Amino acid sequence: MLIHVNQEDRQFHLTNGQVSYIFHVMKNGQLGHLYYGKALHHREDFSHLQTYDVPTGATTHVYADDPAFGLETLRQEYPAYGNSDFREPAISVSNTTANHAPNFKYDSYQLVDGKPRLEGLPATYTEDNQDASTLQIILKNEFLQAELTLNYTIFLDMPVITRSASLKNESQEELVIDRLMGASLDLPDKDFLFTHLAGAWSRERHVKERILETGIQSISSLRGASSHHHNPFLALKRPEATEHTGEVYGFNFIYSSNFLMQIEVDHYDTARLMVGIHPFGFKWNLKPNVSFQTPEVVMVYSDQGLNGMSQAFHSLYRKHLVQAQWKKAVRPILINNWEATYFDFTEEKLVNIAKSASELGIELLVLDDGWFGKRNDDTSSLGDWHVDLDKLPGGLESLAQKISATGMKFGLWFEPEMISPNSDLFSEHPDWAVGVPGQHYTLGRNQLVLDFSRPDIVDYLYEKMSDIIKKTNLAYIKWDMNRNITEAFSQKLAVHQQGEFFHRYILGVYDLYERLTREFPHVLFESCAGGGGRFDPGMMYYAPQAWTSDDTDAIERLKIQYGTSFAYPVYSMGSHVSAVPNHQTLRTTPLATRANTAYFGTFGYELDPVKLTEEERAEIKEQVAFYKKHRGLIRDGQFYRLLSPFSNNETAWMVVSKDQSEALIGWYKVLATPNPKKQQTLRLSGLAESKMYKVAGSERTYYGDELMNVGLPLPTEFNGVNGRSSERGGDFQSQVFYLQKTGGR
Ligand code: DGJ
Repeated sequence: MLIHVNQEDRQFHLTNGQVSYIFHVMKNGQLGHLYYGKALHHREDFSHLQTYDVPTGATTHVYADDPAFGLETLRQEYPAYGNSDFREPAISVSNTTANHAPNFKYDSYQLVDGKPRLEGLPATYTEDNQDASTLQIILKNEFLQAELTLNYTIFLDMPVITRSASLKNESQEELVIDRLMGASLDLPDKDFLFTHLAGAWSRERHVKERILETGIQSISSLRGASSHHHNPFLALKRPEATEHTGEVYGFNFIYSSNFLMQIEVDHYDTARLMVGIHPFGFKWNLKPNVSFQTPEVVMVYSDQGLNGMSQAFHSLYRKHLVQAQWKKAVRPILINNWEATYFDFTEEKLVNIAKSASELGIELLVLDDGWFGKRNDDTSSLGDWHVDLDKLPGGLESLAQKISATGMKFGLWFEPEMISPNSDLFSEHPDWAVGVPGQHYTLGRNQLVLDFSRPDIVDYLYEKMSDIIKKTNLAYIKWDMNRNITEAFSQKLAVHQQGEFFHRYILGVYDLYERLTREFPHVLFESCAGGGGRFDPGMMYYAPQAWTSDDTDAIERLKIQYGTSFAYPVYSMGSHVSAVPNHQTLRTTPLATRANTAYFGTFGYELDPVKLTEEERAEIKEQVAFYKKHRGLIRDGQFYRLLSPFSNNETAWMVVSKDQSEALIGWYKVLATPNPKKQQTLRLSGLAESKMYKVAGSERTYYGDELMNVGLPLPTEFNGVNGRSSERGGDFQSQVFYLQKTGGR
């Protein structure tokens, strides 16, 4: 049993032996939070966990005869504003006679096996009802005549709870929702580091950490995409916690648009976390008998440090978020022509790339931007989804056949949500662009955004894309999104409905994804937004891999992939070997280091194979064979971060198979050390102590406990030119080690 209900005392305990989440109905009918953390023994009554910080001085209390009962200091489950709690609320709804009507009171509960789907939204799911249990708490607001449902799902074998809320209008008039967060959580203290992933184009998801202090701290997006700048991920980490030990709470929002993750620390150090759609500019008109469902919040508790937290996210997403057909499928090693040709390609060039790549063992060619309309640079044609016959005279069908004749699969780039002012589509339908008619339209990369809040526009894109998928037998689509949304305004929504625009827009994006992935389940989608500008679990539900960053430099990728792994499985990260000097940094790194970094992701190439030397081709052939041998392990194994690029000159990480019989370790050193220590070792993680492992390429064997406590000996570094041989040297060194069990238990 995963959910215990004490009906008499109206208490709820969700526990799976790894975590406990406990709350109850308070005497005023609202929900009070009691505990969230490491699993506790179940007992019938938890009311002793209710603590009162009896406020002194100027304060408010709900009952005249109980001065201790003030919501100002009580820990709550889904707080409202206006009835003695002065902190920011989770909900704010009004009708024509009152605003913030706060009194949502407990009505009933319901238990559901497994996890119900969230209508129109990406969310975690169960294929087998045994894998999770869901508790739905129903609260009623008599004044508004509205019903609030709080959903809590606890998963069987992972330290994960997911939450969401939905509000139903049971009155005869329209209600206005100003704020409806996915989850709110009042933690009893503030002794945490606020850890998050921040960045910008080409340097996404760098790990940032700051001390949690009194007042409000937040990360957010108001860009119409989850953004390069702040990922919808947040961890609260005890100051003493490390990658391997200590307490960490992790939160991730399954949403791809405007979000807010906020913590408000009050005067008694209670830390209120709030995750949801960003309330700024949001206003939803809820018609009678209609419900509004929030996106889902994932909450992970780990007592095994940051790695424990990440592993829980990875397991959840691999098993309960990625669509069923991609969970175990082997994803193709691809070559993308973007950095090889940019807009300058012909059919012949592409076929030559495909032939040459096929000889190397690469499995799929992706034709990137520039195949449609008259697009020879980024100033035109988005929206004109018909092939450019000047570049591809035989059309896409002929190209697809020729690619297929080389033994490669064929994939295509789209940017469905965009429209160029210089396009046939814009001449025909200027009102399809997002913007206020007659006002200035801000450009981003010379383009405007299509109004995906309109179902007719989504239908149009569906027709265009599905037609091309069928005609060219596409195996893969890269779905790009290269600018954020400004002048957020739909010409089809009334002025008082414009606060619905952003959410309706992303629902349109999800709808198109839903229809295409349902009709073409064999097409692999890779999401992209100018690199990693929409790398979030909402997208992952439809597209099991995402282009991690436009930055393909191996050294920059150490930070980007390290940070991304905090929440997302390595097999979801598109990571490619590109040419040197690198196009984003002008840095020249060894081919081996470029591959050694890219192996820890969904592997591919972003270069012109025709221009490679014979030596390079031989090396790449080996890389491709190596990845094919290990990609099952990379997909299913347990990932451990070992050394952080944010605090070291060295980075290391590893993947261990579930049965601990094999492991792949990546070790990278950015700058060479003169006169370095000769006997360097790297301490590993996650191995079986009593299993004996052999290091591929050497005769050495070690017990798991040796490798974890003493360490794996690294090859000797020697930086010199005086004739002495060295195993490694120079800047940007790296090595990948493969361990396999040879004995022991
Ligand atoms: C941005 C993407 O991240 C790149 O990989 C490439 O597809 C370009 N857009 C094409 O315009």
